[in-house]
Amino acid sequence: MSSSPIRVPAREWALAAGLVLLALVPVLAGAARLGAIAEGASTPETARFVGDPLPIVLHIVSALVFSLVGAFQFLPTLRRRHTRWHMFAGRYLLVPSGVVVAVSGLWMNAAYEMPPVDGVGLAISRGIVGILTLAFLAMGVVNVARGRFREHGAWMIRAYALAMGAGTQVLTSMPFIIAFGPPDELARLLQMDAGWILNALVAEIIIRRRVRARRTAAALA
Ligand code: HEM
Repeated sequence: MSSSPIRVPAREWALAAGLVLLALVPVLAGAARLGAIAEGASTPETARFVGDPLPIVLHIVSALVFSLVGAFQFLPTLRRRHTRWHMFAGRYLLVPSGVVVAVSGLWMNAAYEMPPVDGVGLAISRGIVGILTLAFLAMGVVNVARGRFREHGAWMIRAYALAMGAGTQVLTSMPFIIAFGPPDELARLLQMDAGWILNALVAEIIIRRRVRARRTAAALA
């Protein structure tokens, strides 16, 4: 019988807790936004969402699934001991929700009349992030289909990190908004880009560390 309880090391739980925390603010903001849309309360700030609710509703629901399911896909112990769940969640929850997050994000980017502070630069950044997220997810799927599990993991880390820029952007914008007030167009662009760039850098550091750890383990074996 292999029904012994799974011991997940504390640092893995800490990783999942950190990722869930990172997701929490945009997810809660999204839930509040859904509530406002359901009430049909149209203000200058919400008119684009109320007038065309489909992409934002798809975006927020899929972001919820993507960010929360994704937080647990990266725990090595759960992945090894519950490989079937990992495969099920990846195939039927994470990849589909990731595709919907990115496509609905690109859709809103093209269709919504954004506030003046969200200028052309931010539209270009959002376009690049949406397309790269789709490309990274595709690379993750192609690699797992070919049995290249390490590459699969690396591409999934990249896709998750980039999409989750939405969480890091709270950290890269809030302190400045509190200190200096609402940003102008350039400051807003820098605050948003900082979230995506920071996440992309952290993803590359994690991927390189994993490669190094494997090389060390192989050398010692
Ligand atoms: C591929 C990655 C993503 C792209 C390209 C993207 C793009 C966008 C765009 C264009 C908007 C509309 C902004 C507006 O009209 O003011 C938006 C809104 C939003 N996104 Fe994303 N997004 C992505 C990922 C995520 C993720 C992973 C989350 C949550 C964890 C998230 C949470 C939200 C929320 C809550 C809103 C509503 C903002 C509001 O109410 O003002 N997004 N996103």
